[in-house]
This record gives sequence, C-alpha cells and structure tokens, in this order.
Amino acid sequence: MNKYSRILCILVLLLGTKAYPIEGANILGIFGTHSPSHVIVHMAVMKTLADRGHNITVVTQMKPKLAPHENITVILAPPTPEREQFIKEYMAEASNEKPSLWKTMAKAVIQSGIQLEGQYEFMMHPNLKKIYENPQSKFDLVFLGAMANDFQLGIAAKLRCPVIITWVGVPLPFMDSIVGNVNDPSYVPSVNVALETGKRTMGFSLRFGNLLKHSFLSTINKLLNFKMNQFYERAFGNESDSEFPTYYEMKRRVSLLFYNYHAPSEGPIRPTVPQSIEIGGIQVKEKPTPLPEELSEFLDNANDGAIFFSLGTNVDTNTIRPEIVDTLYKVFSKVPQRVVWKWENLQNKPGNSSNIYFSNWLPQDDILAHPNTRLFVTHAGKGGVAEAQFHGVPMVALPLFGDQQGNAEIMVRSGFGRWLDILTVTPEELEESILDVLHNPVYREAIGKFSSLYRDRPLTARESVVYWTEYVLRHQGAYHLQSPLIHMDFVARNNIDVYGAVLILLLATCWLLLVIFQWLFRKVFRVVRGQNYRKRVKHEKLKDN
Ligand SMILES: *[C@@H]1O[C@H](CO)[C@@H](O)[C@H](O)[C@H]1NC(C)=O
Ligand SMILES: *[C@@H]1O[C@H](CO)[C@@H](O)[C@H](O)[C@H]1NC(C)=O
Ligand SMILES: *[C@@H]1O[C@H](CO)[C@@H](O)[C@H](O)[C@H]1NC(C)=O
Ligand SMILES: *[C@@H]1O[C@H](CO)[C@@H](O)[C@H](O)[C@H]1NC(C)=O
Repeated sequence: MNKYSRILCILVLLLGTKAYPIEGANILGIFGTHSPSHVIVHMAVMKTLADRGHNITVVTQMKPKLAPHENITVILAPPTPEREQFIKEYMAEASNEKPSLWKTMAKAVIQSGIQLEGQYEFMMHPNLKKIYENPQSKFDLVFLGAMANDFQLGIAAKLRCPVIITWVGVPLPFMDSIVGNVNDPSYVPSVNVALETGKRTMGFSLRFGNLLKHSFLSTINKLLNFKMNQFYERAFGNESDSEFPTYYEMKRRVSLLFYNYHAPSEGPIRPTVPQSIEIGGIQVKEKPTPLPEELSEFLDNANDGAIFFSLGTNVDTNTIRPEIVDTLYKVFSKVPQRVVWKWENLQNKPGNSSNIYFSNWLPQDDILAHPNTRLFVTHAGKGGVAEAQFHGVPMVALPLFGDQQGNAEIMVRSGFGRWLDILTVTPEELEESILDVLHNPVYREAIGKFSSLYRDRPLTARESVVYWTEYVLRHQGAYHLQSPLIHMDFVARNNIDVYGAVLILLLATCWLLLVIFQWLFRKVFRVVRGQNYRKRVKHEKLKDN
C-alpha cells in the first residue's frame, strides 16, 4: 500500500466513522398542538436540522407556515371537524374575556380531559398511526412537542429510538420533573411570576404567591400523569412485545429537553441539569429574509418610523369586539408613523387610512428586523416578545389570554415598554402609551441592552440544536446525561429511608443510654446503701463496746 492510498484509507475510515449516523439521520417530529405559535417554534428546530442535511418528517394538526424544504416532509393529521369547531369557539371565547391566569388555569384543568382526548385522537389518526405501526419505518430520533401529551412518548417506544422533548418557553413543572430540574419555589419563579425591576430575588408576597402556583401546578402534574398513563394503556396496552416499556419507563427514557428560553438575558438564572438545553430564540432568524416587495417599499419609505401591530396567530381579528377595533383604528390612523396591521378579513377593513398597511399574514420576524420599525404593538405571545427583544424593538402589549398577561408584565418590569388592558383601553390611553414608548428613550435603551446579552452566547440557538441533537445520535440516546433523580422513587429522592434509619439509630442510642444509666444508677445506689448499712453496723458495734 503506498502512502497516498494509506492516507486515503484513513480518511475514508475517519469520514466513515464520523458519518454514521450523524449525517442524514431520519428524524420524526410529532407536534400535535393546536397553537400556530407553538408550531412556529417546533418547525424552527426542524428547519435547523433540515438545513444541516437531516431527513425530517413532521406530523402536525395544522399546516405549518413554512416555505417548502427539500429535506422536510410534512404529514397532516388534522382534527375532526367537531373538534376544530370546539377549538375555534374556545379561542374566540377566551379572547373576549378578561384575562386571568387563575381562570385560564382552572379552565385548562376542567377541560384537560378534552385536551387529552384531542391529543389521543391525533395520535390515533391513520396518517400518524401508519408511520409508527409500520415495521418498515426507520427513524433515528423522535422530537415530541410538549403539550399535555406525554403518552405520545409511546410512539418513540414503537419506533425504538431516542426521544427529545421540545417546549416553547421556560420549563413548567411538567417538563422540569421529566429531566429532574430543581424547581425550588423559593427562588425559581413559576409561570407568570416576574421579579420586580432591579430585584434579584422574590420578596415575601411574591414567594407566597409563587409557592401557591408552584404547588398547584405540581399537583396538576401528578394528577395528569395518572390520566396520561390511562391513555398510554389505551393506546399501547395491547402490545404483544412483553418488553414494551410502560408509560413511566418511557418518561425516564427522554434524552433531552429543548426549551425556548435564555436565562442569562431573560433571567433569573434557574438550576437546570445538563439534560435540559436552552435554545432561546430558535424561531428568530439570524438573518432576515427580504420582505415582499410591496411591504418592503412601505417600510423603507416610513420616514417617521413604523409601528407593527399584530395580535398573533391564535386570534382571528374578526372575533375582537368592534369597539376595540375602532379604538385601535382611531389611534393608528392619527399617528405620523406608518402602521403595519395584521388583519384577517381584507374585504372588510376597519378603514382606508393611507398610513396603514393591512395584510392577513405578515412575516413578523422580518418586519421587526427592519431598521424603520420603532414600536411593536403586540398581544405579548412568547414568540413575538422574544423576536422584539432580539431585534431591540420596544413594545406596547395588549395581552388577551393564557400566558400573555404574564409575558406582558415581565416585559414591562424589564422596562421594554408598557401594557394596557385591551378590553377597557380608551383611545387617549392607547395614544399616550404609544407616544411614550416611541419618544422616551428609556425603553429603547433597556431593550437594546437586553438584545446584546441575548446574542452573546457560546453557541447560537441553531448551533445548540444541531450540536445536541447530533450528540444524542452519536451517543445512542445520551442517557448518561440524565440526572439520577429521575431514576429514584419518592422515598429515595427525599432520603426518607436514610432519615428513618438515622432516627432509629438515635432512638436506639437513647434507649441504650437509658438502660446503661439505669444500671449504673442502681449499682451506685446499692453501693451507697451498702456503705450506709456497714457504717450503721460499725456504729452499733462501737456503741455495744
Ligand atoms: C438537504 O440534505 C442534503 C444532505 O442530505 C444537503 O446536502 C442539502 O444541503 C440539504 N438541503 C438544504 C436545503 O439544506
Ligand atoms: C426521508 O424521509 C421520507 C419521509 O419519511 C422518506 O420517504 C425517505 O425515504 C427518506 N429519505 C431517506 C434518504 O432516508
Ligand atoms: C386492544 O384490544 C381490545 C380488545 O381486543 C380492543 O377492543 C381495543 O380496541 C384494542 N386497542 C387498540 C388501541 O388497538
Ligand atoms: C375603503 O375603500 C373601499 C374602496 O374604495 C370602500 O369600498 C370601503 O367602504 C372603504 N372603507 C371604509 C371603512 O371607508
């Protein structure tokens, strides 16, 4: 063998070992959520991997708004018409109610049965079932978008491959418990709990509320697990394979948790295990795509700057009450800035003001990246807030429901803008807030500082996704990253057996000491009595003499 062929041989060997299975892995994404904003985050993860050359298959309930990609196959498993109707009504109802987290949570609990049933239907959809029931299916990895659907982990069990869970925000107790993150309510804020501006810790009242919320969510988590187990049994209880993992075993076989959060900038720092990977801002493009021509021209010529208004993807603006639309239009048609307004029904616009551009679908991220965009009027969905933060655009928030009010509060406390109650806001209040955020430099400075922290990290969000996904592929699930905690039962993880043993030892020692003392006491007593007796005898003898 000559020198060159030897080098070639080594090269082939090196490439060969490196190539399997990292390049062109077959990856299945299961995203059964009804929320387009969740799908956006999950699809951003998938697109990152597809760009890298992996072969991605995605199953969703709704068609993702994503340009076709040669390495992504999208398979739809849509909900039944009755369920679709139900979801629509639920969203419309929610958007006209006063936002209250407790109410939203209570509702979520009451309707959790329906939610789980919907996720079960999705999993049983023939288009999805065809994939995991087919013995020819060959996947290297499954991604599961978390959404009260843990029983869908059974799909990874059927396909015999590792699974990564993706989540769209800061982990809730539902996800923390899967990987074993410390979720100590004394310093880890629960959902929608924000530190006061400039404070590093929670004061008494915040901690009090935080403990309540934390306990509530943890209890829900335990109850949900029972239900999830039932659904898992219903779906996979018939498996003939006696090795088929149980629901609780599958929960201990999760390789990683990806979550859309960046603690150093979003704060506060929370203790996490190596198995949970921050991919905060994954849906934010590192480089904006050119805008459609008409929109691009509209923004380029906005000499006084532009305002972008969107209530997100979940809410059809047609279902917002007409008074609210009037208020918004009154203000937006008056300002010198140009306004880009997300509006569904273009046949029936609120008005024809020349400074407003209506469109039913807008590339939010690219609009926020435009240098003329000065203000974002938003419903404060997690995704939109993150994009505005990334691009350093201050906000006026009009939260509607769910976690939006909490996002808005956090945003305001961070000094990135203001928030208003969309149900009661007057045109004067809205105008005042908009002008304040446009003209007072504190908002832009605060969000600019955040933006620089957000971008400064060892791996970008996209690089993290690629690195850690391939890490799982290279190390067959990378289960060595798991915290011992998730493999321990209640007694062991709380050290109850050890404390019990210590207690028994202490009790035994006490008892032993007691016995010894009693014995000694008796002995001494007897000796003393004996001496007294002898003394008395001696005394009497002396007397006799
Ligand atoms: C698709 O994957 C191949 C490798 O499998 C890669 O060469 C190609 O660049 C990928 N396509 C895109 C658009 O990223
Ligand atoms: C990529 O995935 C699609 C859809 O699952 C599948 O049909 C195709 O065979 C896969 N391609 C490769 C090269 O594995
Ligand atoms: C499991 O078996 C029972 C009884 O044979 C049947 O009624 C049920 O539909 C099966 N479940 C699934 C998910 O196949
Ligand atoms: C806007 O202009 C269109 C066409 O000119 C007209 O039909 C519509 O009624 C106008 N809308 C309002 C609110 O003035």
